[in-house]
Amino acid sequence: MRSMPTHAPLKDESLLRLADATVVYADGTVGLAPTSLAVAAGEFCVLLGPSGAGKSTLLRSLNGLVPLAGGTISVQGIGTLTRASDWRAHRRGTGMVFQQHQLIGRLTVLRNVLTGRIAFSSTWRSLWPASLDDRRIGLQALERVGMLETALRRADQLSGGQQQRVGIARALAQQPRLLLADEPVASLDPATAVRILQLLHGICRDTGIAVVVSLHQVDLARRFADRVIGIAGGRVVFDDAPQRLDAAVLRGIYGAGAEMAGSAPAGASANEAIEHEGTGPLPAAA
Ligand SMILES: Nc1ncnc2c1ncn2[C@@H]1O[C@H](COP(=O)(O)OP(=O)(O)O)[C@@H](O)[C@H]1O
Ligand SMILES: [Mg+2]
Repeated sequence: MRSMPTHAPLKDESLLRLADATVVYADGTVGLAPTSLAVAAGEFCVLLGPSGAGKSTLLRSLNGLVPLAGGTISVQGIGTLTRASDWRAHRRGTGMVFQQHQLIGRLTVLRNVLTGRIAFSSTWRSLWPASLDDRRIGLQALERVGMLETALRRADQLSGGQQQRVGIARALAQQPRLLLADEPVASLDPATAVRILQLLHGICRDTGIAVVVSLHQVDLARRFADRVIGIAGGRVVFDDAPQRLDAAVLRGIYGAGAEMAGSAPAGASANEAIEHEGTGPLPAAA
């Protein structure tokens, strides 16, 4: 396994850069030990690690959902994020996709997608019917994820995979340059999980939006990642191409449970890893 340099190389094309970023929760749990890394524009990064490793903590720190106890985050075009206005600007350009997609079931699909536009309107404006521009952007986002024909259906009438597509469309409606996806396929069956990752990967490739997605399945990371960031115990323990995920690296990420974590050869079924997750310990906070 490679040891991590204290400061990741600062590439000019970096979209986002952490320098010694650290997260400590109120009860003293170190969610993220000092971490330095950079994400390039258009990169498809997979955060890989078992439950409780710190994947959600790292993802949430990237858009300020958890505050840093130390270190900094810098973003292309904004600089080091310090003022509230810096964070607002960064969040506007950062779409989030969640495991439980968090759609409002009684609203139409399009209405859900349009909530992705709210950051661009004032609060009172968002209470009024969406502008034609916003509707066009929302419909384009639905088209991109193959869900245009469902625009006027209630969100709770859709399957889990379809709801996740809508969750991705909502993030795209923000016209982001960075997409953060926290275990977006953990609640889906293996075949649907693959299709959702294909969709995210295609969006990354076609639009140049950088994607940071957390997964716990090694086979899916191998299949889709341009780069794998392995996390264990709140630390980045691996940061390299997926081809370099060998048995020793996997033991470093998953400990003795490495074989259980889906370390089967590339292309193997995602079933085992998904079933394993179902029996694994839950993180303290969702
Ligand atoms: N709000 C919180 N308060 C205290 N500890 C937390 C909180 N959220 C997460 N943790 C702890 O931080 C560590 C990393 O959790 P998390 O980032 O959720 O891991 P993962 O997403 O990889 O499952 C775990 O030990 C977890 O219990
Ligand atoms: Mg998590």
